[in-house]
Amino acid sequence: MRRPFIAGNWKMNLNLASSVSLVEKLIEGLSGVDGVEVAVCPPSVYLHAVCQAASGSILGVGAQNVYHEPKGAFTGELSPAMLKDVGCRYVILGHSERRNILGESSEEVNKKVEAALAADLTPIVCVGELLSERKAGRTHDVVRRQFDGSLSGLTAEQMTRAVIAYEPVWAIGTGEVATPQQAEEVHLGLRQLLESRYNKQVAEAVRIQYGGSVKPDNAAELLAQPNIDGALVGGASLEAEPFLGIIAGAKN
Ligand code: 13P
Repeated sequence: MRRPFIAGNWKMNLNLASSVSLVEKLIEGLSGVDGVEVAVCPPSVYLHAVCQAASGSILGVGAQNVYHEPKGAFTGELSPAMLKDVGCRYVILGHSERRNILGESSEEVNKKVEAALAADLTPIVCVGELLSERKAGRTHDVVRRQFDGSLSGLTAEQMTRAVIAYEPVWAIGTGEVATPQQAEEVHLGLRQLLESRYNKQVAEAVRIQYGGSVKPDNAAELLAQPNIDGALVGGASLEAEPFLGIIAGAKN
């Protein structure tokens, strides 16, 4: 049985005071919640403060990116060990905004995934097609190519420690959400890729989150799909009430 996992990707939003206050509200709202794994992924400058505010609670903390090298002359980058050092458990990798705006390739994502796993961080590896690719009937090809490239060379043990997030680019920040059927179809396809590369046991173990305009009013239906194991939430994770509403949807 896969434990539902809801993560909030704050992207480049909030400030120090609002980050800490949001964490405090979330911790209060999460009291009594169990059976769901929950994390927030703040901007990197706020990771330390957010980790401290979340320490001892069920709220996990993740970064939005990492560099694959362990240390050295890489101006502006952060190593996996640095993220661990401040208390992170997760790191989002290969988000479409990094792929499409910052030109990150699946090959680079793959190196980061390996480095994150080696440091005992859980990578949340994002895949997803553009609207033009969906319209051209290429969704499965694109997702398969990103899966193959970003998760290349992982052992079965490494694969089961990673999380995949399916984020159709056309549904990110647009208010347009994939229907539960559209999302489920891609999630099932990803699980089949896991089974054919590894085995049924690995395919059954890996959690696959959906991301793209997840809100309290659509979360429960998406999360009720057999192959949707959680959500990677952008806009609706920036305030406590909607994020807690989504978490409630995962419980039902
Ligand atoms: P929105 O929930 O704002 O559409 O963002 C989704 C996302 O990109 C999460 O990583």
